[in-house]
Amino acid sequence: MLNDLLTIDSLTRKDVEEIFKLTRKLKSDLKKGKSKPVLAGKTLAMIFHKPSIRTRVSFDVAMYQLGGHVIKMTNEDIQIGKRESIEDIAKTLSRFVNGIMIRTFEHQDVVDLAKYASIPVINGLTDYSHPCQALTDMYTIKEKLGDLSKVKLAYIGDANNVARSLINLAKLLKMELHIASPRGYQPDQEMLKNAPTVKIFKEAKEAVKNVDVVYTDTWVSMGQEEEAEKRKKIFEPFRLDAQLLSYAKPKALVMHCLPAHRGQEITDEVINSPSSIVFDQAENRLHVQKAVLVLLLKKQA
Ligand code: CP
Ligand code: NVA
Repeated sequence: MLNDLLTIDSLTRKDVEEIFKLTRKLKSDLKKGKSKPVLAGKTLAMIFHKPSIRTRVSFDVAMYQLGGHVIKMTNEDIQIGKRESIEDIAKTLSRFVNGIMIRTFEHQDVVDLAKYASIPVINGLTDYSHPCQALTDMYTIKEKLGDLSKVKLAYIGDANNVARSLINLAKLLKMELHIASPRGYQPDQEMLKNAPTVKIFKEAKEAVKNVDVVYTDTWVSMGQEEEAEKRKKIFEPFRLDAQLLSYAKPKALVMHCLPAHRGQEITDEVINSPSSIVFDQAENRLHVQKAVLVLLLKKQA
């Protein structure tokens, strides 16, 4: 296992298998009331430069259930690069806590934090990637459908942080992933190198045809609010509604990392339908991140 979780690209297939195996055990132990405080005495610092409910609550509850503790900070508290350099923040936090989880804009800030910190750093979302989300998504699909190499997943919408992490994980796990995005919002060509299982489609219905799982995310990610009106028009043909879903397999599952903008990228009808597993997916953030925390923080003094 690595020292940090910054992106999916830095993980091996073995790392992912280790995370999934431990997730399964921790989830089952929790449901049986057999959780052990394996991170007793450990502290996780959480830095948020963007809003959050799932990431914030799941990491907090995860540390609590593992016997540890969290400290939450916003940019008002630490003012990265303004009140103090990333280097000095990383070196200071390394003397007090056992790990750092950060949600911010620039991916490079997370890379720099990890470079100067002597403790593990976990990416809780940057403009570039959302590895905790993608790991949870694939774990959830595996839990529902089994062998991931036999599953076809379609991602409809913006090739954003979530999509990039899904692409990298699909590459690693050799899973068939179809992507449909408007022109100008498609994945970078660079990412698609050595990705024989990732296929790009122009039309949403072509991407969805005969898949087992259909996934979407917001058209306007955090930090892109000024582009909201423009994006809403461009993404209109990529809405996940009942008609689009009808092209997938009859029992296809629906996923969304949340928060959802009901009526925009997904309709109420689809997100509320029996096909939707969005809250199982949200719950699994807790279990997957507990595994990540145990694997990264347990060895910390
Ligand atoms: N999916 C996700 O990361 O949710 P939050 O933005 O609420 O943390
Ligand atoms: N792509 C979204 C994901 C939110 C969890 C965003 O970055 O806002």
